[in-house]
Amino acid sequence: MFFGVPFTVFGDDSLQYLNTIKGKRAFIVTDATIAKLGLAELVVNELKPANIECKIFDGVEPDPSIKTVEKAAAIAKDFKPDWFIGLGGGSSMDACKSSLVCYAAGIGPLDMSPSDFFDIRAKARLLCIPTTSGTGSEATWAIVLTDTEQNRKVALGSYETLPDVAILDPRMVMSMPPHVTGSTGMDALTHAIEGYTTTWRTPFTDGPGLAAIKLIFENLKKAVDNGKDAEARKSMMYAASQAGTCFGNGMAGLAHSCGHALGGIFHTPHGVAMGLYLPYTMEFVANGSEETLQRFAEIARFCGIAQGSDKECSKALIAAVRKLMKDIGQSPTVKDLKIDKDKYLKAMPGLVDRAVNEAMSIAVTRVPDNEDLQKIFVCAYDGKPVDF
Ligand SMILES: [Fe+2]
Repeated sequence: MFFGVPFTVFGDDSLQYLNTIKGKRAFIVTDATIAKLGLAELVVNELKPANIECKIFDGVEPDPSIKTVEKAAAIAKDFKPDWFIGLGGGSSMDACKSSLVCYAAGIGPLDMSPSDFFDIRAKARLLCIPTTSGTGSEATWAIVLTDTEQNRKVALGSYETLPDVAILDPRMVMSMPPHVTGSTGMDALTHAIEGYTTTWRTPFTDGPGLAAIKLIFENLKKAVDNGKDAEARKSMMYAASQAGTCFGNGMAGLAHSCGHALGGIFHTPHGVAMGLYLPYTMEFVANGSEETLQRFAEIARFCGIAQGSDKECSKALIAAVRKLMKDIGQSPTVKDLKIDKDKYLKAMPGLVDRAVNEAMSIAVTRVPDNEDLQKIFVCAYDGKPVDF
């Protein structure tokens, strides 16, 4: 068994840690919006006292493609960085991790598996700075890319793609708009709830998972309602990273399987799809796994949501997730996403196939068959509870 976390620097002005790092050249992987907001410049300025030359690659798109990673790696090959800095949401951080592997190992983005060892640190180290509070990519080795040719999301990564350093500076998330704050926050909640209830969970993942869930229930609505609420922003930033630690070491679950399938076909943003499927998949797992029912009850009690029997507490937790979704204006059904029902039903074989083959399904406590998955997908379209 193992448990890995990056060296984490957090709190106001924690970006100043960049003054102290040792190296020659930093390759900053980000997106055009982050660059436009001046956040990449902030990073470059903080690296000046360390005498580190910087090159910014700001070409990462949402759901980064294999081609984008190849492009970044080719630029890095000429620049020869000894630091890779992923700056942004999950897309930028994942593109950064992946381009580092391509650069250091001389392979293509898809040519890695969790058991590979490329000794990438002989060439460069990895530092991540999140600008959203959701994916927790700064705290995990996970990478999600999009194979645009096959219209499919691909989960990659190896233990070497766990960042060396994560910097959680609250000023980096202050400009997130409410809908992004909401959807990324639901992604973080999904990581923590799923990570707390998989078969891979350990005493090391339990603490970060519980702490994250409590912080999210207490702060997500505040951060959505008032983006200037610095305390709520800070709490969400810490929660997202703790949730990343929880699922990065304990694996995620069925909401990720279903959500990745939906995102691969209908291009729904990751956090929107996660929040949407979370309560339905929680119901499915709780209906067939006594162990997970008890774990849900533990969460509900810890967060002060309910104090009755396991069944009552589990139900109350799922209801609290639905209430939070409503309170922050997230779509509770696929119908609300304005996805046409005929198109959705026509895509069902593809949705089920993708969900079945999703790496995230590996550690769930109740494994669905194809028929179960189809029924879950159908329930989530109209908002029917999962009672099987
Ligand atoms: Fe996620």
